[in-house]
Amino acid sequence: MGSPAPSASLHGKRILLGVTGSIAAYKSAVLARELQRRGATVRVVMTPGAIDFITPLTLATLTDHPVYSDFTENKDSGEWTNHVELGLWGDVFLVAPATANTLSAFVQGSCDNFLQAVHLSSRCPICVAPAMDLDMFAHGATQSNLARLAERGVGIIEPESGLLASGLEGKGRMLEPEAIADWLELWFHDRAPLKGQKILLTAGPTQEPIDSVRFIGNHSSGKMGYALATALVQHGAEVHLISGPVQLKVPAGVASVTNVQTAQEMMAAASENFNTYDIAIATAAVADARPKHSAAAKLHRNELPSAIALEPTPDILAHWGQQKAAHQTVIGFALETDDGVASAMGKLKRKNLDFIVLNSTAVKGAGFGTDTNQISIFDSDGKAHKFELKSKTEVAHDIVQHLLNHLTT
Ligand SMILES: Cc1cc2nc3c(=O)[nH]c(=O)nc-3n(C[C@H](O)[C@H](O)[C@H](O)COP(=O)(O)O)c2cc1C
Repeated sequence: MGSPAPSASLHGKRILLGVTGSIAAYKSAVLARELQRRGATVRVVMTPGAIDFITPLTLATLTDHPVYSDFTENKDSGEWTNHVELGLWGDVFLVAPATANTLSAFVQGSCDNFLQAVHLSSRCPICVAPAMDLDMFAHGATQSNLARLAERGVGIIEPESGLLASGLEGKGRMLEPEAIADWLELWFHDRAPLKGQKILLTAGPTQEPIDSVRFIGNHSSGKMGYALATALVQHGAEVHLISGPVQLKVPAGVASVTNVQTAQEMMAAASENFNTYDIAIATAAVADARPKHSAAAKLHRNELPSAIALEPTPDILAHWGQQKAAHQTVIGFALETDDGVASAMGKLKRKNLDFIVLNSTAVKGAGFGTDTNQISIFDSDGKAHKFELKSKTEVAHDIVQHLLNHLTT
């Protein structure tokens, strides 16, 4: 399996997939694949009962990692599998399918097999997708077990009604792998660290008209800003994008998009209800100046002026910095053609920013139009954080992580 799509919704998530002895265990192969397709890394733990339904070899091949089902790896040498480490590894322990037996063991705190030991030692949240016959599911014991697990904070992925392996029809059928992955996405989203944060983000270039067909512009592709919008959405933020003209698809989950052309239009959109946002991020490459006069129609060759007089455009970032209230965070970007540190530091102070992200076209693979970038982040106290050259998706996740650290300190 190749590397996950950059916009994958479970990007970077570590999912410990528990498989138990239900007929629905055959679906866990598709589930593992679907979780990986959405960007997650998957490790599999099976009960001995599950091995009767699907082979560890199938799941090990699909996840490109050994499957764990036994306390010992080699009985002769006494080598054992560290269930505690596995329990600490995952961002979530997803047990799908979860049998009536395993649900009961979880309630009791039993430790009769390796999967149950992982359950007891896991510090990450647990989600279970029950799968069983309708009468087993409806049984008072199962229902009371599920209620007790829910009380403990275990996520319950309710089964659906339909035709069951027994030939009976009713509630007990495990959700299809794609629906479980959707459920998990929402679950992560609800617990996401930027949930409830309203973010205003500018991206792309601006174009300042000379006449009705010509403009002064720049080479910004908007890729960094759009990658950041994606990462912010994945961390649960409500993202409002103000975009200059770009050839990019609006990232899924963005709450609103305002398309603008000029710096003046971007300023108008960026200052509207600014005080209602928690965070404002300026990744756009806004023109610093515009033609003083722009013709309403196309100027013909013989009408073109020999010089174009310029006037400054409004400074969006300085405006945000001035208006910033105590609860707000303002982040700027600086693109320089040299190492740019002095210039970025000056901008950080002058514009009252919380931190600034510096990238330089002097670094090969960084800056306009590329799919990679190399950034440094400077905090308002002058502290510098330098990052390697990475894909813009990874850079976006570094910036989000820096933002999270900033918000919690
Ligand atoms: C063909 C077959 C299908 C089964 N399907 C289920 C099922 O869907 N759900 C369930 O709770 N138990 C089912 N069982 C029973 C479990 O396999 C049994 O309770 C086992 O002890 C579960 O062990 P585990 O929870 O450690 O995997 C099935 C058993 C057989 C033989």
